[in-house]
Amino acid sequence: MTQVQLDESVEYLKRRGFDTPEIGIVLGTGLGQLVDDIEDSIEAHYNHIPHFPLATVEFHSGKLIYGTIAGKKAVVMQGRFHLYEGYDFLDITYPIRVMHQLGIQKLFVSNAAGAINLNFKKGDIMLIEDHINLQGGSPLAFRNVSEFGNRFVDMSEPYDLDMRQKIEAIAEKEGISLQKGVYASVVGPQLETKAEYRMLKTLGADAVGMSTVPEVIVANHLRLPIMAVSVLTDECDPDNLEPVNIEEILAIANKTEPKMIQLFKELIKQL
Ligand code: HPA
Repeated sequence: MTQVQLDESVEYLKRRGFDTPEIGIVLGTGLGQLVDDIEDSIEAHYNHIPHFPLATVEFHSGKLIYGTIAGKKAVVMQGRFHLYEGYDFLDITYPIRVMHQLGIQKLFVSNAAGAINLNFKKGDIMLIEDHINLQGGSPLAFRNVSEFGNRFVDMSEPYDLDMRQKIEAIAEKEGISLQKGVYASVVGPQLETKAEYRMLKTLGADAVGMSTVPEVIVANHLRLPIMAVSVLTDECDPDNLEPVNIEEILAIANKTEPKMIQLFKELIKQL
């Protein structure tokens, strides 16, 4: 990753009409319906954007979409890059740096995750308040990262407090139940063993997934305020663990997404 590469990615997108996005949105696995709500949309496939990682994704169509959502200009990532696909930390966070350089002032991130906290149920949405990085690396542990800002990034409040308060108030007003908790990121792609789910609980995690944390670290490096939610797609009860069912995970993500979209749109209106 170099500044020249970022400039070339941004220049390509600006030329295609990605002019003045205020908000960036990353859509997680099974969470693609928001795209239908984008007005006057234009698209750029990841494979066409200079220096973007090549999309090999299984569950996503892999494109950046620009348009209006709830009256504001947004750039939406339909499909993200994961470590488990063989990308490295720089690859998976490159789009965050591009969206930042395009001019976004806020970042929304979503993911599908397993519920470690057994008071939470599949189909719940969890507002991420904090995280535990269990991916064994950092997008800031690369040679030229300091050229983009101090790499010793403060992580005392990685998720923007103001947006958290706003979204809680919105959920309350709209009658959407919103859990709150700690997201632990693992590499995957295999799901966890019973022993691993027990460990995650002991560590203080409320949810577990295979994404989000690297993007959040980079957004903090960029001083970009973040709001992140997990759509809980399975219940990780080590004492009654059922074999994983990816179809069910996707179906639950799909079914829960309209609630998430409602929260996102109301929050966008308030920003
Ligand atoms: N573990 C890890 N990632 C996940 C899970 C899980 O149980 N569910 C959805 N993504």
